[in-house]
Amino acid sequence: MKFKSLKITTVCAAILIGGFMQSAAGHNGATGIIKERMDNMITMGKALGAVADMLKGKRDFDAKVVSQTGDVIIQHSKSLGSLFPDTNESRHGKHSAALPVVWEKNDAFLALAKSLEEKAEILKTVASGGELKMVKIAFGQTAKTCSACHADFRKKKN
Ligand code: HEC
Repeated sequence: MKFKSLKITTVCAAILIGGFMQSAAGHNGATGIIKERMDNMITMGKALGAVADMLKGKRDFDAKVVSQTGDVIIQHSKSLGSLFPDTNESRHGKHSAALPVVWEKNDAFLALAKSLEEKAEILKTVASGGELKMVKIAFGQTAKTCSACHADFRKKKN
């Protein structure tokens, strides 16, 4: 039973990440700080995608790659806050999908960035244990944190 629910989490997360990558393709015209934060997000999405492929059996399990994914997300979540400064360009720049609530509820926004960092720390830690089940759980928690922030702070795709 437990295994089954894990599997479903993984599939959902994989679909979510598919969505991340797809949305990434639509914003090529962005510049400046908007482009910088999009690139930051895309890098995290790609790193997570590698782990998703392992969990789907599309590539061999490789603890080192899982650990590197953890590192990439730790580093990039640390800089998330500074990529959303409260400036005119940052709030109103072309092609941005960031909602005003990013700055109106900035504490909550930063808390989610911090939470992502913590989830990625766990992903990195379980990687060295080499237990696929633990990696699945940590992966699911990480991907869920991406989606939680997008649900509240990013414009819905039309
Ligand atoms: C603290 C909030 C937050 C977290 C956590 C977060 N994101 Fe984002 N993400 C955003 C916001 C806001 C935008 C829209 C930025 C913009 O368009 O200016 C965005 C945009 C994106 C985009 C679209 C980039 C583009 O080119 O349009 C991708 C892909 C993405 N995020 C992936 C991820 C992944 C993968 C994770 C988790 C590893 C993640 N995000 C975690 C807030 C977050």
